Amino acid sequence: MKKLIQEAIKAREKSYCPYSHFAVGAALETKEGKIYGGCNIENASFTPTNCAERTAFFKAVSEGENAFRRIAIVGGKREGNLEKTAPCGVCLQVMQEFCDPEEFEIILATDMDQYERLHLRDLLPYGFELEKGN
Ligand code: THU
Repeated sequence: MKKLIQEAIKAREKSYCPYSHFAVGAALETKEGKIYGGCNIENASFTPTNCAERTAFFKAVSEGENAFRRIAIVGGKREGNLEKTAPCGVCLQVMQEFCDPEEFEIILATDMDQYERLHLRDLLPYGFELEKGN
């Protein structure tokens, strides 16, 4: 757990947040134990902004990963202390696409040994699903 939070803190250092100055880092662990980091990437046009969680997911999925165990998230003002940062609805819906809501863990950390552990189901009780066709 410490290692995963450490990776999220490391990913946060790369945050591109010149507008909100709110830097977020995420570390996504696959079922095989590989870790993908991600940071938020903002845009002058606002809408194209990508959250740290989605950056981590898209990096992993684009490398062929499709089985995930947990994600650690850290966020806070660029020069301030970490604040408990929960994923936005869009990121939760992306998690729902690739993860079992009863099993996938979301770790909201403010320090290496200070964190809250939730399941995706806790934060997104009624995620949207469509049957996958061929
Ligand atoms: N943000 C994330 O990256 N993840 C979250 O869980 C919440 C919000 C980013 C988006 C934006 O760059 C900044 O935080 C302020 O909203």
